[in-house]
Amino acid sequence: MPFMQSISSYLNNNQNRFISELIELLKIPSISADSTFKADVLKTAEFIKTSLEHAGCDTVEICQTDGYPIVYGEKIIDKNLPTILVYGHYDVQPPDPLDLWNSPPFDPVIQKTDLHPEGAIFARGACDDKGQMYMHIKAMEYMTSQDKLPCNVKFMIEGEEEVGSVNLSTFVKNNHEKLANDVILISDTGMIAKDVPSITTGLRGLSYVEVEVTGPNRDLHSGLYGGAVANPINILTKMIASLHDENNHITIPGFYDKVENLSDAERSEMAKAPFSLEAYKKALDIDSVYGEEGYSTNERNSIRPTLDVNGIWGGYTGEGAKTVIASKAYAKISMRLVPHQDWEEITQLFKSHFENIAPKGVKIKVTPHHGGQGYVTPIGSTGYKAAAKAYEQTFGKMPIPQRSGGSIPIVSLFEQELNSKTILMGFGLDSDAIHSPNEHFGIWNYLKGIETIPWFYHYFTQLKK
Ligand code: BES
Ligand code: MN
Ligand code: MN
Repeated sequence: MPFMQSISSYLNNNQNRFISELIELLKIPSISADSTFKADVLKTAEFIKTSLEHAGCDTVEICQTDGYPIVYGEKIIDKNLPTILVYGHYDVQPPDPLDLWNSPPFDPVIQKTDLHPEGAIFARGACDDKGQMYMHIKAMEYMTSQDKLPCNVKFMIEGEEEVGSVNLSTFVKNNHEKLANDVILISDTGMIAKDVPSITTGLRGLSYVEVEVTGPNRDLHSGLYGGAVANPINILTKMIASLHDENNHITIPGFYDKVENLSDAERSEMAKAPFSLEAYKKALDIDSVYGEEGYSTNERNSIRPTLDVNGIWGGYTGEGAKTVIASKAYAKISMRLVPHQDWEEITQLFKSHFENIAPKGVKIKVTPHHGGQGYVTPIGSTGYKAAAKAYEQTFGKMPIPQRSGGSIPIVSLFEQELNSKTILMGFGLDSDAIHSPNEHFGIWNYLKGIETIPWFYHYFTQLKK
């Protein structure tokens, strides 16, 4: 049977099972950030191990780390053939705020939406990344069971991506030989639209810090003391506001020094990607977009660095009014970085600047959290070409290269440690609400991913010969 026909019929015969298996996986609340879910995270690793065994891996191990384990599996059919390393993550973001979910986050339901008339699975992790990662396991099952696996394959599925992949870094550094490969394949990003396939060619880096402003040594009556001592919340908000100028440029000295300026040709190439500002605004119910002067929306969220407050707290936030000057105020701040900006250097620049701009009367503490470098991959590589041919095969048109605004910090470490390029074949949509309430993943996208992945194996092996 020709390749195409054989994958379509395998999909038709097995799609209900593929969906119900994913639903079982989504029921386990593998929240890596919250230690009360430890047993569930570990159970998910076991689930992945069993799935990889069923999918035809010859060896599967649960590799212990100082944190959550990495599930590693492989099938080596011939040392002379290329090796694809698949990376994904089985941990998920916390689901809160729970009251904004239309159905419980770990009780998956299938519901139709405007963009997903075939139905979408609603659950935390449906798209990021359980659904997308599981496509690879099902594609593997197809290839091994139908005798269609053209090359060697290694799987490395971690449980700490959403908390910074700290232990994965160590694992990668210590296992160069085990992880040796010709290309790394990841589905943990998105595509432009169901009829506009795209391949992610860039990811942003990240620096994440927490700041604490301390004023007086205790909370004070705002009438007795207000106006006479520094109010940490007033000060913190003023300091944060000063981090952007009137053109929405970031004011931290040195912040832009290493930012790569794209040529006009590159920018006009980017601008060709289909994008409707009207639809964008409508989907978010906003009357205008907002951002750095001189750049388009797509540029602002991909090739330009940004700084955002992710959370801010302090003082009285309960019911009613309490007249108080809090002793402390806090914020969590993230900076999305572009390739060449070094996240550790940016963290330092932030820290010095934030300490410098603090007025007298308060103490400042800046605590760095995780971070990571950005990534760009050329469209001329064998991996990119193979991916493009794979999409062309299953979508009937060539994919568009697109830089994404999100971060997968481990990707640049892969390049550094394993010396290989990563191909980001994402099948999610921006509207799939990853990290938000009502996260979902289209059934169509899920099945399309399973159908497209074997073609990548096929073309990559062919182009490598
Ligand atoms: N899969 C996402 C990253 C992503 C999503 C990239 C969509 C491009 C398009 C990943 O799980 C993620 O959420 N990364 C975090 C960073 C991490 C260190 C917590 C992010 O981007 O905020
Ligand atoms: Mn992810
Ligand atoms: Mn994520």
